[in-house]
Amino acid sequence: MDKNYWNSYYQKHNSIAKPSSYAKSIINQLPEKCKFMELGCGNGRDSFYFASEGHSVFACDQSNIIINSLNEKNGDNPRFITADINQLNTKIENIFDVIYARFVLHALSKEEAQNALNWTFNHLESGGLFFSESRSIKDPIFGDGQQVESRIYKTDHQRRFLEKNEILNDLQNIGFVIDDVVEEQGLAVYKDSDPVVIRIVARKP
Ligand SMILES: C[S@@+](CC[C@H](N)C(=O)[O-])C[C@H]1O[C@@H](n2cnc3c(N)ncnc32)[C@H](O)[C@@H]1O
Repeated sequence: MDKNYWNSYYQKHNSIAKPSSYAKSIINQLPEKCKFMELGCGNGRDSFYFASEGHSVFACDQSNIIINSLNEKNGDNPRFITADINQLNTKIENIFDVIYARFVLHALSKEEAQNALNWTFNHLESGGLFFSESRSIKDPIFGDGQQVESRIYKTDHQRRFLEKNEILNDLQNIGFVIDDVVEEQGLAVYKDSDPVVIRIVARKP
């Protein structure tokens, strides 16, 4: 969603930042030296962190601006690919131990999110894990800006705030088992923003 917005955002914000608090919080839950895939990697900060911890990392984003910039500076781990989540089937055939999406499910339309979850299930090893952190409808900024559809609001870009039971049902309908879910404030504080986020660990049986 919002490819033009993200391309112009990354024209100005393409330096490598520190890993997110979410990435650091899950690092000890990853299998050793695992095959790892990040969906919607943005400036790659979490992918660099996972690679630096010994994992073999693929990462994709729809923004050719940020992926081209990352590929100019980087070697082959992480491996960055320009790909829309809707086109992953034609771009990546690998099977992963872990697939990770931070602040991505709420940046996707419902259809894109469904595609992403289906693709994720089909590209995990049996026993593989899906980690996700996204904004909830309980987020204080829910309702700000122009309403586009139920639960979708547009400020400078669109966000589709997640409802916990709906996303859990979507995952379970695909075949995932939910290992952990948390819906809380205080986990993703950035400057003066303290969103309510939903963190999920889902496992492919
Ligand atoms: C809020 S940013 C999060 C970036 C990164 N995960 C982080 O936490 O720093 C959302 C990202 O999702 C990407 N995105 C949105 N829709 C996408 C799609 N259909 N396919 C691939 N990436 C998409 C955007 O380009 C953007 O980089």
